[in-house]
Amino acid sequence: MALLLPGGLALLAGLDAALLLLGLPAPVTTERLPQVHGPVLVLGFVGTVVALERAVALRRWWGYAAPAGLGLGALLLLSAAPLPVGQGVLVLGAAGQLAVYAGLWRRQESGALALQVLGGFLATGSALLWWGGAPVATSLPWFAGFLVLTIAGERLELARVGALGPRVERALLALGVAVFAAVAVTPLWPRVAHPALGLALLALVLVLVRYDVARRTIRSTALPRYMAWCLLGGYAWLLVAGGIWLLLGRVDGGPAYDGVIHAVFLGFTMSMIMAHAPVILPAVLGRPLPYHPAFYAPVALLHASLAVRVVGGDLWGSAAALQTGGALNVAAVLAFVLVAVWSSVTGRRRELRAPRARARRADVPTASVAPRVAEPVR
Ligand code: HEM
Repeated sequence: MALLLPGGLALLAGLDAALLLLGLPAPVTTERLPQVHGPVLVLGFVGTVVALERAVALRRWWGYAAPAGLGLGALLLLSAAPLPVGQGVLVLGAAGQLAVYAGLWRRQESGALALQVLGGFLATGSALLWWGGAPVATSLPWFAGFLVLTIAGERLELARVGALGPRVERALLALGVAVFAAVAVTPLWPRVAHPALGLALLALVLVLVRYDVARRTIRSTALPRYMAWCLLGGYAWLLVAGGIWLLLGRVDGGPAYDGVIHAVFLGFTMSMIMAHAPVILPAVLGRPLPYHPAFYAPVALLHASLAVRVVGGDLWGSAAALQTGGALNVAAVLAFVLVAVWSSVTGRRRELRAPRARARRADVPTASVAPRVAEPVR
């Protein structure tokens, strides 16, 4: 929980900076916030969450250095410390993540992990580029590749895709390598690399959609159905991002820049986080996060507001649609956090009440209900 806190602060600061970038009033205003919005959210928030989950899987004390480094790096970016200090700590955190992957690799090699390792190299590369003075626009494909490959690897690992056999695993790995290679050459040959990245992303997402169990579970109920909506919505936005890169090549400003960035980071990444939170966070935090239909509200708001922003704002050029969609994007992410906290707190209460109720039903006073055995036993 302590290691997740800097990630949470990075999220709030990144959202605050998002409002400033949209030209809207925000609770906190500093000169640096808009400048660090992207890296704070990608490496500080998502990076910390991913690194923490991997460190829990590794079960070695030193594995926690990676989320600690990424979280601390984000806090330093937000502080008055010179920018290169925070940027340097982010590089260390991302490199620590590679050490965690090495530990996991020694324990068990797999195609799923190989995809995550490729993502880890891109995260480290993105942090190095930014530290070395490259503009965020240059790091953008690296950020995107980091998150896409990490999430594709985790999908495979969760066996939703991998259950379909080694052929699919090999295809995903080959496409992952194509994404990695295209990203790696973006600084050298941007004219060819960006369309190639778009093409590789489109192929990757088509294979994911083709074999992901989400296409079937969308007809089931409760959590599997909720997850399927989030997953398919996320894949759709990745198609948009791949299409923009394929057709327009390198974009480093203007509406297409806003569109490609947020198709990847809000439409795909945030939707994936919303999908997996009820499955992954309980394992990381040791607290329940039971599914509730209320989870649908922030997800629907996220996708609808992003459509308003991208279609109305970026495509049609309406400043009002860009601002309204953007502000509602922020509201959707905050609403998800609130629903998750509420679900976790009420789930915990239900969990604590459950042994008592079971004991009453069985007439057995357990340790946790012992002080209450004086109550009438039904
Ligand atoms: C939640 C609502 C969000 C809003 C309203 C928002 C808004 C913005 C705006 C207005 C820009 C400037 C775009 C331009 O220069 O054309 C921007 C850039 C960016 N955003 Fe967001 N954003 C949000 C969430 C996110 C998230 C969740 C991530 C990543 C996980 C992200 C990553 C980025 C990146 C990497 C940039 C490029 C920054 C740069 O060039 O310095 N954004 N965002």
